[in-house]
Amino acid sequence: MYILENIKLKAATLVGISLSASLMLTSASAKETAIDGGVKYDTKKGKYTSYYVNDQKVKYNHGRTPTEREIRAWNIDVMPDGTGLPEFDMKHGEVVLGEDGKPKKAQGTVEQGGELYDAQCVMCHGDFGAGGKGYPRLAGGTVSTLKNQLMNPADENPNPDAPIRTIGSYWPYASTLFWYIQDAMPFPHPKSLSNSETYALVAYLLSINSIKIDGEELGDDYVLDREKFLKIKMPNAKGFYPDVDTKNPHDGPKNIQKFMANPKNYGKGTKCMKDCIKGKVPVLKIQNELKDFQPAPSTKRDWFVPENKAAHPMQGAYEEKCSACHGNAAIGAPVVGDKDAWAKVTAKGLDGVYSNGINGINGMPPKGGVDMSDDDFKKIVDYMIEASK
Ligand code: HEC
Ligand code: HEC
Repeated sequence: MYILENIKLKAATLVGISLSASLMLTSASAKETAIDGGVKYDTKKGKYTSYYVNDQKVKYNHGRTPTEREIRAWNIDVMPDGTGLPEFDMKHGEVVLGEDGKPKKAQGTVEQGGELYDAQCVMCHGDFGAGGKGYPRLAGGTVSTLKNQLMNPADENPNPDAPIRTIGSYWPYASTLFWYIQDAMPFPHPKSLSNSETYALVAYLLSINSIKIDGEELGDDYVLDREKFLKIKMPNAKGFYPDVDTKNPHDGPKNIQKFMANPKNYGKGTKCMKDCIKGKVPVLKIQNELKDFQPAPSTKRDWFVPENKAAHPMQGAYEEKCSACHGNAAIGAPVVGDKDAWAKVTAKGLDGVYSNGINGINGMPPKGGVDMSDDDFKKIVDYMIEASK
């Protein structure tokens, strides 16, 4: 039962706003209905107010059956066992054909992935996946630091650094990576990457996390396809469940107890109930398997530079440096051309707008994450305001 006082619509007005007349229950054609077809029952004795009931017999006539192509474009989930992992290339739900007219094999190299990354991902995720300011890091972190957190509870852990969780150090399966990227990224244009492009990006991201496949390092020329993908073992694959034999129903709980009771597996490393910290607490040594891949979060980013065919002197700079975020409403940036949005921004006065932009605010990185002078930045802001009047 739904009580939908707030969105009720007079049945008589439904036709007027071009919802199908069949939305109304025949038995209730004279009654008021809610937008979901719920029928209004008036206040009767004993009832505190009128109420709506949707008995689900309503024929909505909303929407339509999705096309085969639409289903293909949306049905792109990939399971850890490889179910759904594509063998052939597809983009926007259409099979990509090779020169021979046959479906093209889906595959991509680390190098291709790097190029795609620089064109479509670096503006948010930073150089080499360094992340920064609300945009997640895509590289670095180690499985051993994750383990250290488990083994050294905060009360005794002299190491204040929280472990860095990234796709490389934390995600147990690469299938999630493939699926996530294709389903959700690049942020403003999800589902725009082909299967081959996604393989290339996964290859690149694994390579900057120095993850090997079947013992092989992922150099620039490494080609990732379905077959090789199925051999990926993510470093933290076993990090979510302790490796305890629970097959025998009688021994399972016993084995788990044994595992948890061993301080080497879980806890401080030694069993201790009283005066546990004696003398100097040893500084935890973090084994850093990925030493070379701990890029500092960047504030400076490289930008993809399109050809400058600007009509306004600052339009090119805007398109290069700001349009990834300001060209659409996906992440809440005021969209250039949106009069109301910019009227709100500029209401506080130009000085405030400049300083918010230069220092950064919420999802807006300082100067948009680009290294430039205050003056140049202000000129671009002036253009954005001008273009939004
Ligand atoms: C406009 C900014 C933007 C762009 C461009 C972008 N991303 Fe993201 N990405 C995000 C944000 C924000 C999140 C976090 C989303 C969340 O957690 O809900 C994210 C999350 C991710 C994650 C998951 C990270 C984690 O540890 O949870 C991956 C992987 C990823 N992006 C890959 C990519 C790839 C590959 C591209 C380029 C094809 C790309 N992104 C482009 C903003 C962006
Ligand atoms: C990574 C995404 C991103 C990039 C790149 C980016 N912006 Fe923004 N920008 C935002 C977001 C998100 C906001 C809204 C912040 C808020 O108020 O919550 C914003 C807000 C602003 C504002 C309004 C500040 C205010 O006072 O409210 C200005 C001005 C601005 N950006 C200028 C620029 C310029 C110029 C560039 C390019 C040099 C740029 N931005 C690049 C995300 C971005």
